[in-house]
Amino acid sequence: MPDLKTFAVIGDSRGIGEAIRLQLLERGHRVIGVSRTGVTTAHENYQSLIFDAVAHPCDLSNFAASLNGLVYCPGTIRLKPLKGLKREHFLEEFDVNALGAVQTLQSNAKLLQNADAASVVLFSTVAVQTGMPYHTSIAMAKGAVEGLTRSLAAEWAPKVRVNAIAPSLTDTSLAEPMLSNDAKREAAAARHPLQTVGSAAGLASLATWLLGSEAAFVTGQIYAADGGIGSLRK
Ligand SMILES: NC(=O)c1ccc[n+]([C@@H]2O[C@H](COP(=O)([O-])OP(=O)(O)OC[C@H]3O[C@@H](n4cnc5c(N)ncnc54)[C@H](OP(=O)(O)O)[C@@H]3O)[C@@H](O)[C@H]2O)c1
Repeated sequence: MPDLKTFAVIGDSRGIGEAIRLQLLERGHRVIGVSRTGVTTAHENYQSLIFDAVAHPCDLSNFAASLNGLVYCPGTIRLKPLKGLKREHFLEEFDVNALGAVQTLQSNAKLLQNADAASVVLFSTVAVQTGMPYHTSIAMAKGAVEGLTRSLAAEWAPKVRVNAIAPSLTDTSLAEPMLSNDAKREAAAARHPLQTVGSAAGLASLATWLLGSEAAFVTGQIYAADGGIGSLRK
């Protein structure tokens, strides 16, 4: 009998969240997806909810009695020198990346506690642990996500594990401005010791591993998935 579970993927219409949804469904799990635009694919184990999880707390209790896992994917990339950033830019990045995750977790804490074991996956960025120019506002917002990850992992242990993934540049709609032509794409790949940018499917594989029972002994960790750029010199 396969081990079928229910997962919520916040931000599953595009990018890494879409790849996570596809991998979970392929393994036979039930997925509740949340995004502002929705997904039209019909799949018996899938429900797409159109909802702005940053503007409103995303309470899924009308759709599931328990959740084995929740992934929060909404994010931003605003790369600007400090002098060009206004207070509202910092607040907006904090809202989407950190507070949106917090309110989603608060709204669904009971559903996660209702499962025998549950796993939360959040997204940080390589630019928190490695200083990079023009990344102040996103590094601050994602730094908060890393603090949230460790604090909540302690608070919710042993029932609910909480981990985060810190990617470098990954080929999704969010990164499109940085990968919009061959020259940019080649330069971005060349900056990484592994000579490539990340793929949504690759990042999703790490997330689905963290969601599953194979990672049952792992909590409070920030996983770099960054082609080596955060820790290697080449
Ligand atoms: N791609 C990269 O290079 C990179 C690098 C470092 C870190 N990250 C982080 O990795 C995570 C995933 O990134 P990604 O590249 O897959 O992003 P993406 O391509 O922009 O996808 C984000 C997903 O979240 C949904 N979303 C955005 N705002 C939402 C909201 N308010 N309510 C509900 N859904 C919302 C989007 O769908 P709708 O527009 O339909 O709502 C989309 O499905 C993010 O946290 C990002 O910061 C990415």
